[in-house]
Amino acid sequence: MRTLILIGFMGAGKTTVGRALAGQSGTSLTDTDQLIEEMAGMSIVNIFAEKGEAEFRRIETAVLEQLIAADHAAVVSTGGGLPLREENRRLLKKLGTVVYLEVEPETVLKRLEGDTTRPLLQGSNVKEKVEHLLLERGPIYRSAADITVKADGLRVEDIIKELEERMGGSL
Ligand code: S3P
Repeated sequence: MRTLILIGFMGAGKTTVGRALAGQSGTSLTDTDQLIEEMAGMSIVNIFAEKGEAEFRRIETAVLEQLIAADHAAVVSTGGGLPLREENRRLLKKLGTVVYLEVEPETVLKRLEGDTTRPLLQGSNVKEKVEHLLLERGPIYRSAADITVKADGLRVEDIIKELEERMGGSL
């Protein structure tokens, strides 16, 4: 089975869908944020606070390189900003089939209300932050993806069904 990678904005459901996909195929989910926290020995909030976003982005690239070298990941869920680096978009394509879970700002805001774990969405004007980042990132996600699934209002099983259809019946 070719590695399936989920990309998309914070709150798009990458980890939830990834976990379900992995469960369905009897494999396990590889989550880049989780790998980074394990590697760094600290939470993402602390990495951003103590080392900065640029360093976090560099670790994301290192994680992708490791996954390609290890060559055994079945389903990978990624941090929402991972495709921002051009280098990472190239590495994603090398790693496997890239699926973009596209969502509207309203979905993100509903799902992440009160969240304290996303450094980029803290403080005031969260709505404006989400809208701005989504506008900026939309074209990047689309250019990184082999398949785009509009996920607003869809249940996890609907997303998986659509993905199966789009991939010609098999995952
Ligand atoms: C980020 C998304 C987060 C995490 C970090 C930065 C982003 O992952 O990697 O807070 O830049 O969009 P999720 O998409 O899993 O929330």
